[in-house]
Amino acid sequence: MGFDIFFALVIKFNDFLLYNSMIEKELYGMRRDYSPKPLNIEAIDKNPFVQFDLWFREATEYEDIEANAMVLSTVGKEMLPSSRMVLLKKYFQYGFIFFSNYKSHKGKQMEENNNAALLFFWPKTMRQVRIEGSVKKIAASESDEYFKSRPRESMASAALSSQSMQLPSREIFDADVKRLSECTDEIKRPEHWGGYIVEPVLFEFWQGGINRAHDRFRFTGKGSQWKVVRLYP
Ligand SMILES: Cc1cc2nc3c(=O)[nH]c(=O)nc-3n(C[C@H](O)[C@H](O)[C@H](O)COP(=O)(O)O)c2cc1C
Repeated sequence: MGFDIFFALVIKFNDFLLYNSMIEKELYGMRRDYSPKPLNIEAIDKNPFVQFDLWFREATEYEDIEANAMVLSTVGKEMLPSSRMVLLKKYFQYGFIFFSNYKSHKGKQMEENNNAALLFFWPKTMRQVRIEGSVKKIAASESDEYFKSRPRESMASAALSSQSMQLPSREIFDADVKRLSECTDEIKRPEHWGGYIVEPVLFEFWQGGINRAHDRFRFTGKGSQWKVVRLYP
């Protein structure tokens, strides 16, 4: 074998080792023990919205991260699930509201299939809340109200972004956003941007416990009628 081929093989083997050492990480031993307050059937509020409100308030107090950041999962007609973070902007006894681009990937999926799931993870208090339900657009007037409350740059970005489409030039997009946000014209909410409400039919409250003794309570129902059961962890 010539030296050239030998060196080429050595380099290839090194690349192989480097590549594998970079992408392979075994996390079997990675765990934390938590010392939270256990959750029991007596303590949990029988209205899941009230229980959510209680935990959300505690999360805003204890968490370093944005407590209102949540995972939104959607599935379109092709049956491929897709998840991403969005920010919860309002909750009340009918549901959970967030804002986005109606023509985005998530927007298209929710158009095709109005079932969606939300997930909150609050690590400091070791809590997870799952919410599942149907999703629909909120009234245009409500979207207008929130849109107007946003910083001008966010309005401009929402108006100009074709969210989830290929962006040919970041520089051109930034310059367009700057131009629009600095001009004095009113920036109107584009029709393709607005709010969604998730109306729950299921909540699950998960409280991490010591030695993996986690507490899980699942609520099923609608409106003010809910049934709660404890689940195996
Ligand atoms: C913490 C956090 C909060 C976010 N909040 C929103 C939001 O409220 N609305 C939104 O459209 N995208 C939000 N995003 C961006 C989305 O995760 C996502 O990239 C974008 O909506 C496009 O998703 P899609 O292509 O699946 O439609 C947020 C991202 C992060 C990390």
